Amino acid sequence: MIVTIDGPAGAGKSSAARALAKRLGFRFLDTGAMYRAVVHAAIERGVSLEDADVLEQVAANLDIQLTDDSVVVDGRDVTRLIRTQAITTATKYAADHPGIRAHLVELQRAAATGQDFVTEGRDQGTIVFPDAKCKVFLTASERLRAERRFHDLVSRGEEITFEEVVEKQRQRDERDATRPVGALIQADDAVELSTDGMSPEEVVDRLYEIVEQRRNV
Ligand code: DC
Repeated sequence: MIVTIDGPAGAGKSSAARALAKRLGFRFLDTGAMYRAVVHAAIERGVSLEDADVLEQVAANLDIQLTDDSVVVDGRDVTRLIRTQAITTATKYAADHPGIRAHLVELQRAAATGQDFVTEGRDQGTIVFPDAKCKVFLTASERLRAERRFHDLVSRGEEITFEEVVEKQRQRDERDATRPVGALIQADDAVELSTDGMSPEEVVDRLYEIVEQRRNV
């Protein structure tokens, strides 16, 4: 069974999807981490992010290993390194690149072969797994999403103001919604869940119920 969880940045997808996968005993795939890993590797190699061909080469030659809670690229643990604001902003170079998207989509499908899976991103229910048995579109208000992201960044020691986070989030929302390939669109058959006013535990409980309902269809 494949469960897709798509939605905008800061809706709480990663932590909810990870906890849901654990409760179900399913594997978990954080697809945003793959886009982040490509950009992080390119920056480390001193490659210009604007050179689309070289960036595609970097992506094609990377060994990205995702476990349920770590991201290992070419044998090095980059789990924390790919979560900085600088990488978040630069990830657009990989996410907007049709060739890189095609490559990562292939890896995502390969990862899910023959396994029960919870996968999280922007295009999982629409492009990557259009036949998934259970699709969720997770949202939250702009303010709540920005608050989450702000607290997350501050706890990681980044110096950033709340207003900057809101502004960057707006830019990212706009980009995610309008990218020609892999845009964030709610699948027709996705269940929409707004997490406003819900505790993390309530979100996972509700997701679990949604999966159970779909499982029995
Ligand atoms: O979910 P995240 O913040 O880790 O995602 C990082 C960026 O990657 C985000 O701006 C959108 C992009 N992304 C994407 O285009 N497609 C996905 N399946 C996952 C993420």
